[in-house]
Amino acid sequence: MKDLNQLTLAVCDIARQAGDFIRQEREHFSAERIEHKHSHDYVSYVDKQSEQLIVAALRQLLPEAGFITEEGSARHTDEQYCWVVDPLDGTTNFIHRFPPYAVSIALLRGTEIQLGVVYEICADECFYAWKQGGAYVNGQRLTVGSHALTDALICFQLPYNSQAYSPVAQSLIARFYGRAASIRMLGSAAIALCYVAAGRLDAYAEKYIGQWDYMAGALIVTEAGGRVSDYSGSPQFTQGDNVVATNGIIHQDILDAISQIL
Ligand code: IPD
Ligand code: CA
Ligand code: CA
Repeated sequence: MKDLNQLTLAVCDIARQAGDFIRQEREHFSAERIEHKHSHDYVSYVDKQSEQLIVAALRQLLPEAGFITEEGSARHTDEQYCWVVDPLDGTTNFIHRFPPYAVSIALLRGTEIQLGVVYEICADECFYAWKQGGAYVNGQRLTVGSHALTDALICFQLPYNSQAYSPVAQSLIARFYGRAASIRMLGSAAIALCYVAAGRLDAYAEKYIGQWDYMAGALIVTEAGGRVSDYSGSPQFTQGDNVVATNGIIHQDILDAISQIL
């Protein structure tokens, strides 16, 4: 296998190629091509073709690796290495021509994240990190922010499972609205994580998400000096469906609120 730094840069090229395809398709995208996976959970040929392009390119790069992909076009059995791919994170944003939306690719060895790449298509920003190599956006080193809660910008997203999560989301907003600087929702889990890494956000929390939503962004946060855990505070989050990522300083504030709600 190539060294992780080289491999990460090769994955950035693949994410950019998929991003270019998505950008081109957006030019003439028609609402008739949208399908429903579940209520308010959309997909189109753009997600599927982006995934095919990414899987084919990653297969050439590392033939021995398996795949976990959102659109299910490739499989993971017992391979030591596994790619985790979201071919278009922020599909609802894409459909509405509302930034941000992104391509997200991570490489796992067992349960350990080796590298993560998130390419944000609208702003042409490629976020990436490799294990113990630091986190970067378009070549610039990333460091998490240093705000305490009172000045923190927090992102609480709204996952598709609205029935189960609606009371949690409402309680989280009620607990931090007026205590923190403000609250945002971006519509892309991968980008929310990258913005924590870049210090644009100070915290992000979401439940009922897939490994493809958070795997790459989570490594980018930790390599930028931030903290990532599941909703119970455990650093073993890679098999779960819930993630808290922060600048480290306000992590416990978010966990305390979650433990009082759940
Ligand atoms: C979704 C986005 C959204 C998040 C959802 C994800 P998709 O991914 O990341 O921000 O709230 O939980 O499923 O469907 O656009 O790839
Ligand atoms: Ca996603
Ligand atoms: Ca997706």
